[in-house]
Amino acid sequence: MYNSKIIGLGKYVPDNVVTNDDLSKIMDTNDEWITERTGIKERRWVKEGSGDTTATMGVKAAKMAIERAGISKDDIDFIVFATLSPDMYFPGPGVQVQHALGIKTVGALDVRNQCSGFIYALSVADNFIKTGMYKNILVIGSELHSHGLDKTTRGRGVSVIFGDGAGAAILTREEGNKKGILSTHLHSQGEHAEELVLKAPGMGTRWVNDILADNNEDDESYFPYMNGQFVFKNAVVRFSEVIMEGLMANGLQKEAIDMLIPHQANLRIAQFIQNKFGLTNDQVFNNIQKYGNTTAASIPLALTEAWEAGKIKEGDTVVLAAFGSGFTWGSCIINW
Ligand code: ACO
Repeated sequence: MYNSKIIGLGKYVPDNVVTNDDLSKIMDTNDEWITERTGIKERRWVKEGSGDTTATMGVKAAKMAIERAGISKDDIDFIVFATLSPDMYFPGPGVQVQHALGIKTVGALDVRNQCSGFIYALSVADNFIKTGMYKNILVIGSELHSHGLDKTTRGRGVSVIFGDGAGAAILTREEGNKKGILSTHLHSQGEHAEELVLKAPGMGTRWVNDILADNNEDDESYFPYMNGQFVFKNAVVRFSEVIMEGLMANGLQKEAIDMLIPHQANLRIAQFIQNKFGLTNDQVFNNIQKYGNTTAASIPLALTEAWEAGKIKEGDTVVLAAFGSGFTWGSCIINW
């Protein structure tokens, strides 16, 4: 019986810092509204001409994770890439990483589970390792939101929340003890798919020739839509449920949590969960203030920064949890 263990973490964020005050110059918003509702003070948005894409940012985060893991790219047996903003409609960015890093022709899987994407990706990697199929797996979460946001007053309810960035982890086989990922827990509820959605360019019942012929600049289906309050209410319930599910599956109580890293959806959601579980500020890590919501990248970005800050120690019980579009949600319980 094997376990999988995280032995390397990496991150990359674009240089370009966009503050709330910067946003107030291009749309009708202000620092007070954004800070009060979301806790976000600034985010990174890729600058035109920088060359950063979802795939290239993922590659940079991956390089850091590989180096910190002390392995070579040639040791990687499989790649899992989570994103909702791939460079191309198909193929997904997993193969771009395989090529850019010069990794041998291993499998590359793309995961499409939005804010829960990194937990889904970890779950896949963990179970490939647990079954003995692979030894070292590169898991990436990367997002480039800024190219696709409606940066006008019409889109302000969504566009002020999302940011660009990437995070990565190396999972390796751990033999003979109980360290590493203990369990992962995944859920979905498709009846709410359209409450947090980007409809285009998915064609559904529309024909691509008709979409092109319409050439309609008012077509909002190319921008993300979010029913914010409905998402908020569902998120706080599902986060709590799935954290408890993970703890109970391992015979743990909430007092066992040393570090909770929630998907950085909204600081107010994280604070609600923190209060509900009676956790101190030292037991929850947030960096949404600096980066906004980076969907599939948010957990590996936060995990990397928590680890860099020395906030995660060997033997700690680390809980990762996410909720997002789908709806999908999940948790991951780690004995670090
Ligand atoms: N600046 C100023 N005013 C704004 C802005 C803005 N950026 N955005 C909206 N407003 C206005 C609205 O127009 C509205 O004005 P009105 O009352 O005159 O109509 C008012 O502010 C209140 O708008 P609400 O949408 O009701 O604001 P609410 O307090 O619900 O906050 C928010 C909105 C922050 C989106 C909140 O609902 C939320 O955090 N939801 C959860 C988001 C989330 O967690 N997403 C995670 C998943 S993301 C993923 O999976 C990809």
